Amino acid sequence: MAHLIVNADQGEQTISRHIYGHFAEHLGRCIYDGVWVGEDSSIPNVRGLRTDIVQALRDIRTPVLRWPGGCFADEYHWMDGIGPGDERPAMINTHWGGVTESNHFGTHEFLDLCRQLDCEPYICGNVGSGTVREMQQWVEYITLDGVSPMADLRRANGRAEPWRVSYWGVGNESWGCGGRMRPEFYADLYRRYATYLRDMSGNELYRIACGPRGDDYRWTEVLMREVGSVEARTARPFMAGLALHYYTRIDGLEGEGLSTSATRFGEAEWFRILKRALFMEELLERHSAIMDVYDPEREVALVVDEWGTWYDVEPGTHPRFLHQQNTLRDALVAGVTLNLFNEHSDRVRMANIAQTINVLQAMVLTRGDQMVLTPTYHVFEMYKDHQGAVLLPVDLRCGTYDYGGESVPALSASASRDSGGRVHLSVCNLDPNIEARLSCLFRGAQLSSVTGRVMTADAVNAHNTFQEPDAVCPAPFEDARLEGDTLSARLPPRSVLVLELS
Ligand code: AHR
Repeated sequence: MAHLIVNADQGEQTISRHIYGHFAEHLGRCIYDGVWVGEDSSIPNVRGLRTDIVQALRDIRTPVLRWPGGCFADEYHWMDGIGPGDERPAMINTHWGGVTESNHFGTHEFLDLCRQLDCEPYICGNVGSGTVREMQQWVEYITLDGVSPMADLRRANGRAEPWRVSYWGVGNESWGCGGRMRPEFYADLYRRYATYLRDMSGNELYRIACGPRGDDYRWTEVLMREVGSVEARTARPFMAGLALHYYTRIDGLEGEGLSTSATRFGEAEWFRILKRALFMEELLERHSAIMDVYDPEREVALVVDEWGTWYDVEPGTHPRFLHQQNTLRDALVAGVTLNLFNEHSDRVRMANIAQTINVLQAMVLTRGDQMVLTPTYHVFEMYKDHQGAVLLPVDLRCGTYDYGGESVPALSASASRDSGGRVHLSVCNLDPNIEARLSCLFRGAQLSSVTGRVMTADAVNAHNTFQEPDAVCPAPFEDARLEGDTLSARLPPRSVLVLELS
């Protein structure tokens, strides 16, 4: 029996809704053939943006969308993506397969997408192959409400009003595809770029610096030392966020005779991937501990703006398009990771899973005019009530899930209280074989009703296809009993559960 205490009468910090954010790069079929089909397409669209995708992403309350990359961001020159579509110069997407990029989806289209989704835009600027002037002009083009060459150009391109864009990334993976820099060099470069990224016409920029790759703690140390502490001039740190990237990768396991496929795997790969996903906890704690030294007030956010699973591409697809299927295993990765982000929301204030459509751990897969929602999508939908809610401290005592001489906690949980006073609890059972009996005390709460949904499937590699789109999706959960302030529930093996109590 596992025991969970939810301190329902406590809770101080809000779970930023931006933890439930997304990322869309010009990579493979994420933008083109994913969300952008063009106005002349026979696929239903509004100003070129697929209606079904927009609705699906609205249904999970997409709070923020990062664009245009990724590695693509440091090769992207925004001026190529404005003006009449057929007059825009094509380019080569060198990083992602050397395919032709038409530039038909650019700044106006992205900001229209954000408007249709009712979400915040998060733009990543080009440091690697761009210039300070180019990035400065992009901000001016988007946000200035006065007379200037860039604001006038925007008006000439059909947009009279400036947009509001808060979240602005200064380069992507500057330690890798974004320029192979050392942290000392990047820190200075960041200072230079950020100086010229000005707040205009009341638009306040939230500048996000390139952060570490996985466990590169030195990168965090240097960036925090050089940019992360409070500046005398402004009484604020010079960066608002530091971006961490961590992928739950399958690579390296071939040598152990394990499968690197997204769908053809068994318990050994299930265990290894979940264990690698749980490494996120150590990353959050250790990077946060370094940040605390320079920023004890926790003003600088840890922004996990790329995370998710990364397997072999689907057989027969372009190796650089990173198109992978998505199974119940991915749902568990999403569930445990989002629980961790909630638990660390005093420092983690944004996260963007990679990537929204057809790429890596996608929400949606498309084929022609068809679309299928992945198990990961359903987790984002099931967890959506945590967005903007107050985190409730939990104390979980559970057994372990053991495999091959290693073990991980069998359960992962997180709880919050929404503005209407309802309590939301998400619990994942990582054990693929054994149901979990859970006794949960909601300390300090007056509760009289519980409803819930659970997602599981017969096989660890179950997934949704165009033939069988609902093979893995949430179902009503009937196995919870509430008596006073105590709930008892039986979680099926390999499952994600959400409960609402009031
Ligand atoms: O999401 C795919 C790629 O992974 C991104 O372009 C890059 O930032 C990361 O290495």
